[in-house]
Amino acid sequence: MSTGNISFADKVVLVTGSSSGMGYQMTLAFAKLGAKVVIQGRDSNKMAAAASQVAAVSPKHYTPLQVKADVGSDADLQHLVDSVIREYGQLDVLVNNAGIIAMSPIDDPDLMKKFDEQIKINVRAPVFLSSLVTPHLMRTRGNIVNISSGIGMRAFPGAIGYSVSKWAVIMVSEALALELGPKGIRVNTINPGFIENQAWHDKAGYGPEVGIAFKKGNPLGRNGRIEDIVNMVIFLASDAASYVNGVAIPVDGGITKTIQGTNL
Ligand SMILES: NC(=O)c1ccc[n+]([C@@H]2O[C@H](COP(=O)([O-])OP(=O)(O)OC[C@H]3O[C@@H](n4cnc5c(N)ncnc54)[C@H](OP(=O)(O)O)[C@@H]3O)[C@@H](O)[C@H]2O)c1
Repeated sequence: MSTGNISFADKVVLVTGSSSGMGYQMTLAFAKLGAKVVIQGRDSNKMAAAASQVAAVSPKHYTPLQVKADVGSDADLQHLVDSVIREYGQLDVLVNNAGIIAMSPIDDPDLMKKFDEQIKINVRAPVFLSSLVTPHLMRTRGNIVNISSGIGMRAFPGAIGYSVSKWAVIMVSEALALELGPKGIRVNTINPGFIENQAWHDKAGYGPEVGIAFKKGNPLGRNGRIEDIVNMVIFLASDAASYVNGVAIPVDGGITKTIQGTNL
């Protein structure tokens, strides 16, 4: 990954869902650039493994703070923020990355259960966490990056809960960008396309035909890599983006601009 002259030396960065997947890779990148970071997850073993990898790349050998927290629990989110401030005394960047997907066609008997759960984790949690960190980000003139999805811009068949939740994330960012901009806090969104992270696609439960269809429909002829998203997170969170506020940036090779999409 190329991040030019960007530095996060001694900045405090909290990425939710940082014990695995894209959140882990984002945290690793922030740590490499000098940040004091947090490993937040639900599985202590995964968290410990991630923390030791992250500590190994920190230029000043900072050991990440580990906080076990379910973002679906308000009490856990309060505990997360309290722990970060107790340990580091400040917060500069929040990345609302933790998210879930549950395929739920309209005749799914569990439709509304899955719908509510995706709204809770993908939308409600970032809103509540943003409210908790606002006083701290005001002090550091920090910023928030929300991870939405290309599926927040173009609906995905059989995934109404995910599509609606990720669409709402864009408006969460827009609303907060206007409200928090005058307080010195920027808020932006990234809309990843189909990213090669098998763990995510296994959780979604669809087969390999979906990745093949996305690749075929993509103007660049490939699916996304985790580092494509990491690069954009680093840019948006950095001072290089100090005049960028309230945007939703697709990082998807252009697929959400096509008429045919995936033909799924
Ligand atoms: N991969 C893609 O193609 C793609 C495309 C567009 C958008 N996205 C978005 O990118 C973000 C990261 O996805 P990913 O590909 O890295 O998937 P992932 O590997 O499944 O990572 C999701 C992360 O969220 C965490 N998480 C889920 N529910 C949680 C909860 N209740 N409390 C705390 N943490 C929770 C997971 O923790 P555990 O490890 O404990 O489960 C995991 O660390 C998500 O918001 C997703 O919607 C992904």
